Amino acid sequence: MLRLHSFIRPAFRSRRWVHNTPTFSHLNSVNEEDLAHFSSILAPTSILSTLPSISTPADDIAPYNVDWMGKYHGQANSVLRPRTTQQVSEIVKYCAQRKIGIVPQGGNTGLVGGGISLQKEIVLSLGAMNNVRSFDPVSGILVADAGCILQSLSEYIAPHNHIMPLDLGAKGSCQIGGNISTNAGGLRLLRYGSLHGTVLGLEVVLPDGTILDQLTTLRKDNTGYDLKQLFIGGEGTLGIVTGVSILTPPAPQATNNIFLALPRFDNVLPLFQTVKRQLGEIMSAFEYIDRTAYDMGLQHGLGPLLSADEVGDSQCFVLVETSGGNQDHDLEKLNNLLENLMTADEPLINTGVLSQSPTQFNSIWALREGLTECVQKEGKPYKYDVSVPLADFQKVVDAVRERMISKGLYGDHAISKVMGYGHVGDGNLHLNVIAKHGYRPELEAALEPFIYEIVADRKGSVSAEHGIGSMKRDALHYSKSDVSIDCMKKIKQVFDPLNIMNPGKVLP
Ligand code: FAD
Ligand code: MLT
Ligand code: ZN
Repeated sequence: MLRLHSFIRPAFRSRRWVHNTPTFSHLNSVNEEDLAHFSSILAPTSILSTLPSISTPADDIAPYNVDWMGKYHGQANSVLRPRTTQQVSEIVKYCAQRKIGIVPQGGNTGLVGGGISLQKEIVLSLGAMNNVRSFDPVSGILVADAGCILQSLSEYIAPHNHIMPLDLGAKGSCQIGGNISTNAGGLRLLRYGSLHGTVLGLEVVLPDGTILDQLTTLRKDNTGYDLKQLFIGGEGTLGIVTGVSILTPPAPQATNNIFLALPRFDNVLPLFQTVKRQLGEIMSAFEYIDRTAYDMGLQHGLGPLLSADEVGDSQCFVLVETSGGNQDHDLEKLNNLLENLMTADEPLINTGVLSQSPTQFNSIWALREGLTECVQKEGKPYKYDVSVPLADFQKVVDAVRERMISKGLYGDHAISKVMGYGHVGDGNLHLNVIAKHGYRPELEAALEPFIYEIVADRKGSVSAEHGIGSMKRDALHYSKSDVSIDCMKKIKQVFDPLNIMNPGKVLP
């Protein structure tokens, strides 16, 4: 049995945990005069507003005021949908003069409440800026508007035998500008690295309306400070990304995957080492699913990839993907791996399945990628996307479950499930806590800062890939020192002295 006290250091216990509700007394609401000005910049169809002169039906504006989980509810009375960088620039220039807060919004799939207005800020939706500007099939460099949907970009470059360097379950809705602004990780990070490496250049409208054109297509450019890095993961607090130059890798000639059932969590680490050693350069993903998450997936129609007998009392599962240059060679490696795993004196796995067709390949991935939607169907999720040492993944999940049990909050009346899945290969755990009957303050109070303290105690990160948004703004200090936060505030002050750009997000 895991003892909770072993996780919590007094130093963190004594740290003050305050949830501040930001007030934006320095900002103005959008009024009819503002709408008249926006009408001189944008076509009428690009302006949505509940104010009388426009009178957009509430149902049309509602999707911009609620996040994907239904956890964050916005207050924006108006939404602007520019089509060009110039229009973005003119809107921002005007908002700066009038001190109107701006919330940039992409596909609105973010999971930390970053794209939702907190008070009366205007929503600037990038979805109408969705053109590919250029693609060079020799270098693989793609230049596109920020509002292009990730999947559309994948489809655009597929005939040229290239793939996007990132992939995530939200690919059908999320936009490349949103991906960059959240520094999204996803399912290909293990192979292609983070956007800090693959993004070559950006075009950004700064908070005073100036267009910062750094849309370079150079692989190498060592000319002073690399400003684009500030906007990668900037979550719209420093400017609006309008254009993106990104390096796309050639599509692998052969992709395969296997799905493995493990008797116990303790086998995951040695399995990771074994798989890395045996598959070497062809391993492209190593994903983790615990038993609770697997069973939930099954209940919602994902899989089954293995029969109930095969799964038995397996505690967790691992998905391994390979991307290589030669199907026969890769399959031979995978078959050897499976045989070695199954015939070892003390097998690390109970059983496993190797995909034999593109359909099977896709259904193995569908089980992993579909978990987020299943969680959503189970109730209201508290989603903690954390980095912790791999060996602690399951201990963290178990500690949270025990905590809810000890507080009488575990069961169908409150928290119905606590589960873990994620990108083991990147040390990234997705701890999901399901509130069967909706979000309640006492549930949140039991979870936070408890989880952030556990993470800080393991020297982890309170946000591995989803960002800070408004959810973790007040938890930033668990992963960043006072000096770091101070530097971040100074940078914000330089770019956005009026604090109009996504106010109340990221920085406490
Ligand atoms: P939004 O949600 O619209 O915005 C996110 C943040 O970026 C906000 O702060 C917003 O203000 C800002 N922003 C958006 N566009 C711009 C812009 N052009 N300029 C400046 N700021 C901007 N995330 C991962 O990292 N890995 C995953 O594997 C992953 N899987 C997911 C699966 C599902 C099913 C879902 C629903 C979400 C998943 N996410 C994942 C979270 C989310 O999809 C990503 O964070 C994604 O990058 C957000 O893109 P978006 O266009 O929806 O941005
Ligand atoms: C994932 O890896 O599935 C995503 O980050 C979304 C989630 O945490 O559910
Ligand atoms: Zn993820």
